[in-house]
Amino acid sequence: MTDQSLLTHPVPDASASSQPPAGRPKKVFVKTYGCQMNVYDSDRMTDALARDGYVPTDTAEDADLVLLNTCHIREKAAEKVYSALGRLRELKKKKGAEGREMMIGVAGCVAQAEGDEILRRAPAVDLVIGPQTYHRLPDALRRVRGGERVLETDYAIEDKFEHLPAPDKARTLARGVTAFLTVQEGCDKFCTFCVVPYTRGSEVSRPLAQVVAEAEKLAAAGVRELTLLGQNVNAWHGEGEGGQTLRLGDLLHRLAEIPGLARLRYTTSHPRDMDDSLIAAHATLPALMPYLHLPVQSGSDRILKAMNRRHTASDYIALITRIRAARPDLALSGDFIVGFPGETDQDFEETLEVVKAVGYAQAFSFKYSTRPGTPGAELKDQVSEAVKAERLERLQALLLSQQQAFNQACIGRDIDLLLEKPGRMPGQLIGRSPWLQSVNVDAKGVEIGDIIRVRITAAGPNSLFADVVD
Ligand code: SAH
Ligand code: SF4
Ligand code: F3S
Repeated sequence: MTDQSLLTHPVPDASASSQPPAGRPKKVFVKTYGCQMNVYDSDRMTDALARDGYVPTDTAEDADLVLLNTCHIREKAAEKVYSALGRLRELKKKKGAEGREMMIGVAGCVAQAEGDEILRRAPAVDLVIGPQTYHRLPDALRRVRGGERVLETDYAIEDKFEHLPAPDKARTLARGVTAFLTVQEGCDKFCTFCVVPYTRGSEVSRPLAQVVAEAEKLAAAGVRELTLLGQNVNAWHGEGEGGQTLRLGDLLHRLAEIPGLARLRYTTSHPRDMDDSLIAAHATLPALMPYLHLPVQSGSDRILKAMNRRHTASDYIALITRIRAARPDLALSGDFIVGFPGETDQDFEETLEVVKAVGYAQAFSFKYSTRPGTPGAELKDQVSEAVKAERLERLQALLLSQQQAFNQACIGRDIDLLLEKPGRMPGQLIGRSPWLQSVNVDAKGVEIGDIIRVRITAAGPNSLFADVVD
């Protein structure tokens, strides 16, 4: 950042000593919790702050502004925020004693859900900003510098994406050859365990032209693999140039035309929104990677009903059979909750049965966490912590064995590998397989961003190993 940008953005009202010394740019440290959408949002906030002269830094010690981009999905996730704020308060005090100012902001889903409470419980916090108002961040910071404690959690009427800067070329390059792009946000499904409809608001799709323009920018900056994001990404819908309704399958086809973009993915999907055109895209679109994250949560129809998932276990299995018919080498990933209120041993056994029937390459499983304000919190028959722990352990053992079996089955196969970053040893590179595995390979005369043909030779606990195939 040049002096110029500091000059063009004078900071009102602050004493000279609280500003970074002349010539040193203001620094922001963003700590991201939660899902991929928060990762995307953190990058957008960083880009918005760059306009105000902020450069990113890796430590709070070094920062003039610390932003916690928080997650509310489970109790533990939300608690992390308050312990982080406790540490930051001490740091702010210490810096204050040295005449250095540090602003603290809380963004993300905890900000949206508990805005007032954060300001009450954590006096060191200067700013609370919800996910739908990130475009107002620079303005909110000006208000903080004017002496206000700012709470910005109303849903904005304007489209934040119209006002947030598109990904910057240099920063995109620095972030690597894979990128996220939010195409849909919010949720109208109201699963009874889940806070997302309350923290992210109702379901909104970004218009086709906006998504295409952003994808083109990312591709021009060197991105080879794009993951489209949404809480219900397969509910995305838009309008084509002729006014026709477009669905996610159509969007994927459009994005696959962008020069440079070799690979597409999307996450997270709801089983109810896997329509025929999306399934067909898995058969007809080579750029669409053979990997699908399709959460089922439980294998018991009784529990699925209580969760308001609006599908049965057999609906889910039948759906997977159809998707696999379209793309036989598809790998599946899922999310599971154990110990939802009323879950019996029999219900849990049915979850294990679904896992066995599907066979997952990867999965995420959680103990049910009661979230205030959700219908699940009102239910009787909450399951004890001990039972949840025992069920989680059994489920995770099964899922881990499936993951290991999947990785073992890759040995001997030739695959296309997208080179992502240097490995630990000289000459070694780390790439990403079509099934989202991390693969180590020794390769010469290649560059990050290249897609090369390799043969998988071994599978370790966290990554695979491969040799280049001529
Ligand atoms: N939109 C996605 C999931 C978003 S949240 C979907 O519909 O699948 C990511 C995962 O967190 C969920 O799939 C669920 O498995 C888990 N989760 C959500 N709320 C939870 C809660 N209250 N307790 C435990 N896990 C929860
Ligand atoms: Fe939450 Fe259900 Fe919406 Fe997923 S579909 S975000 S689990 S309410
Ligand atoms: Fe967490 Fe919000 Fe994502 S609650 S999982 S950060 S949508």
